[in-house]
Amino acid sequence: MGQVEELEAKALAELGQVGDLKALEEWRVRYLGRKGALTEALRGLGALPAEERRATGARANQAKAKLEAAFEQATDTLTAKAAAVPSAAIDVTLPGYPFPQGRLHPLTQTANEIVDIFNAMGFQVAEGPEVEWDYYNFEALNIPPEHPARDTMSTFWLDQDAVAGKGRLLRTHTTSVTARTVATMKPPIRVIEPGRVYRYEATDATHLTGFAQVDGLAVDRGITMADLKGTLFEFARRFFGEDRQVRFRCDYFPFVEPGVEMAIECGVCRGAGCRVCGQSGWLEIAGAGMTHPEVLRRGGIDPDVYTSFAFGISVERLPMLRYGIEDMRLLYGSDLRFLKQF
Ligand code: DAH
Repeated sequence: MGQVEELEAKALAELGQVGDLKALEEWRVRYLGRKGALTEALRGLGALPAEERRATGARANQAKAKLEAAFEQATDTLTAKAAAVPSAAIDVTLPGYPFPQGRLHPLTQTANEIVDIFNAMGFQVAEGPEVEWDYYNFEALNIPPEHPARDTMSTFWLDQDAVAGKGRLLRTHTTSVTARTVATMKPPIRVIEPGRVYRYEATDATHLTGFAQVDGLAVDRGITMADLKGTLFEFARRFFGEDRQVRFRCDYFPFVEPGVEMAIECGVCRGAGCRVCGQSGWLEIAGAGMTHPEVLRRGGIDPDVYTSFAFGISVERLPMLRYGIEDMRLLYGSDLRFLKQF
């Protein structure tokens, strides 16, 4: 009798410690299972004297009923608790975890887009080094050492004797690739030359010491100014849309004759004049012209047989125009709050 009571007390105390359904099942097996402690106790009753057997048997059955009832109740409580856990731990109304997504820089996107448009017109990509010889950056482009045009491109020189016209520099324009192309390729040539260029200048909203250009070159028999205009018009239409006005005006570059400057109608004010276009209604996006015969000759191409046009587009201007970005430095600031918009 004492053992039964002890067993009951111990079982109930342990049940109080049971925290989940798995532990509860182990508890059931331990006390109420076929080989459980209480079952064993009931089996052992036969060994008792008759008097004691009845009283103890009754008490043992009472204990069994009590433990079974406690088990039922614990099952209900723990099942409810198990069901309640997920809904408390997973709040489906919380915002999801962000998965940061990388993308191309707006300038890379722009350069790719320019290249795609010219690819579709049959131009192939050519590239050249950013550390360039004076020869390809200036000399081959009809800019000898004493030429005043050198002053318009404040140059980062890399060699002491560079000023004499021999050394290395950081290229000031991708037109250096044009000089390399005429020296290495045979006509017909149609290339597009994207890349970074450098100028030793003070930095402000529209000037940087490093920026991007895309030069282009076409060389063949019978190429005329009309081909140049048609090609650049088509580029402007594809990049900015069908209805954008394009303007060509005379300009001077030593490596072209005649030379032009191409502007497009300001997208912000539609030509009326505003802050973005400096009240003029137009924005210059490229220099261009008919390649100077001397440039072709130095590259080994006979200017009496072949003619050529060339152009150089300022890459930063295009996203600035398209998105109304007023400060070029934003494009190089690496501020994700800015960059994530593109
Ligand atoms: N290289 C010139 C510059 O950086 C732009 C330019 C003008 C490029 C006329 C050309 C060209 O290819 O034909 O200002």
